[in-house]
Amino acid sequence: DEKGFRVPMPDDERTGPAKAGGQASAPFPDGFLWGAATASFQIEGSTAADGRGGSIWDTFCARPGTVANGDTGEPAADHYRLMPADVRLMAELGLRAYRFSVAWPRVRPDGGAVNAAGLDFYDRLLDELLEHGIAPWPTLYHWDLPQALEDRGGWTNRDTAHRFADYVDSVLERLGDRVSNWTTLNEPWCSAFLGYAAGVHAPGRTEPRAAVAAGHHLLLAHGEGLAVIRERAPHAGAGITLNLFPVRAHDPADEADVEAARRVDALQNRFFLDPLLRGSCPRDLLSDLEPFGLGEHVKADDAERIAAPVDLLGVNYYHDHTVTGRSDGRPAAPSPWVGAEHVRFPGRGLPRTGMGWEVVPEGLTELLVGLHREFPATPLYVTENGAAYPDVVTASGVDDPERVAYLESHLSAAHEALRRGVDLRGYFYWSLLDNFEWAEGYAKRFGLVHVDYATQRRTPKASAYRYARVIAENGL
Ligand code: NOJ
Repeated sequence: DEKGFRVPMPDDERTGPAKAGGQASAPFPDGFLWGAATASFQIEGSTAADGRGGSIWDTFCARPGTVANGDTGEPAADHYRLMPADVRLMAELGLRAYRFSVAWPRVRPDGGAVNAAGLDFYDRLLDELLEHGIAPWPTLYHWDLPQALEDRGGWTNRDTAHRFADYVDSVLERLGDRVSNWTTLNEPWCSAFLGYAAGVHAPGRTEPRAAVAAGHHLLLAHGEGLAVIRERAPHAGAGITLNLFPVRAHDPADEADVEAARRVDALQNRFFLDPLLRGSCPRDLLSDLEPFGLGEHVKADDAERIAAPVDLLGVNYYHDHTVTGRSDGRPAAPSPWVGAEHVRFPGRGLPRTGMGWEVVPEGLTELLVGLHREFPATPLYVTENGAAYPDVVTASGVDDPERVAYLESHLSAAHEALRRGVDLRGYFYWSLLDNFEWAEGYAKRFGLVHVDYATQRRTPKASAYRYARVIAENGL
């Protein structure tokens, strides 16, 4: 079998055997969708195979000082070659759904002509998944923009939204018959504000005005892509995935903190939620971003296109934001907080994951309850949630009690949201496999399954067995 692949079974003594139909004390609704997530650039490797073009992440990684340890998209988890074995692994864990992304530069290497060989991989992936009874949940854009399009302005160029629609059309033409749920974009906030304002993600630009343009054009791309999905696959569900955060003022009695929290909430959450689900941009945000040219990019029919109805909202949740407007006297570095570069996130002294993120499970309940209250007609899915910890492989496997605890506490938080009436339909753990964590490279491990990058050996962690049991018992 491929490279010493070790087949896991959830009969590990640390977690006990997976008992189908076992008694969960916190049962989830029948049909609740249990999955795990990945993204193309983070796991595939094979960045030059079968006619793939360069993406902005290939370019960004090649620039010294951008990614920790000089890591690149090679070899990643070599999933492009190990895909059939990875799908078997998913089946063994009992996953009901698999969220992955399609690499635009495989499908349209320079943003123009279609490369059929690039689509072959996803064609085979769909067949493997369906043969194993796993529902494919493809995301059409998880940050790997063809470099050729960046050379023409990338997301600052309105035309990129039209190129996205063409790309979506070619994907749907080939794969549309076997997918029941499409996601247009993953975390457009990161693409726009980390990529074009903070410069810590590709394409590494530090121009606040460009980030604002990018944010609007990403929303437009969602709308245009959605229209193509509706035409090509009228019976499929479709939506978008956002990274949303409960935002609180560090000191609710301090006006500067309250105002900083408002600015962060506006840029992080409302910039996307309001145009998508309310059909307009909030007034305060319009005026905050007036100096950065937001209004210049919004054309007559944009609002309507962006607000076309979605069947679901994907929510990625990792932690919350506690914000202060009090400066610590340090000069403001390039920041994603356009127009509010001085804001800071002091935290609350809670335990942190390997990413330095505070562990705040109740923030997930708060977020889901708030979204449901505001948009009761929109079904919600947690499309990402998970944690990086410095895992160690020993002779007996990978014991990752902190990740097990993170998983359990966040599933309890999701369960509490369900109890409070939220229309939550599924949960995808991030990530199935250890992978390329963007600017952090391979050092940060989010996987349920450990990847040894030298041998590509997969070792399911204790958290994988725990999750398999949750799935088998449909609850905690
Ligand atoms: C958000 C992104 O969608 C994903 O690519 C990333 O690896 C995880 N969160 C963890 O940071």
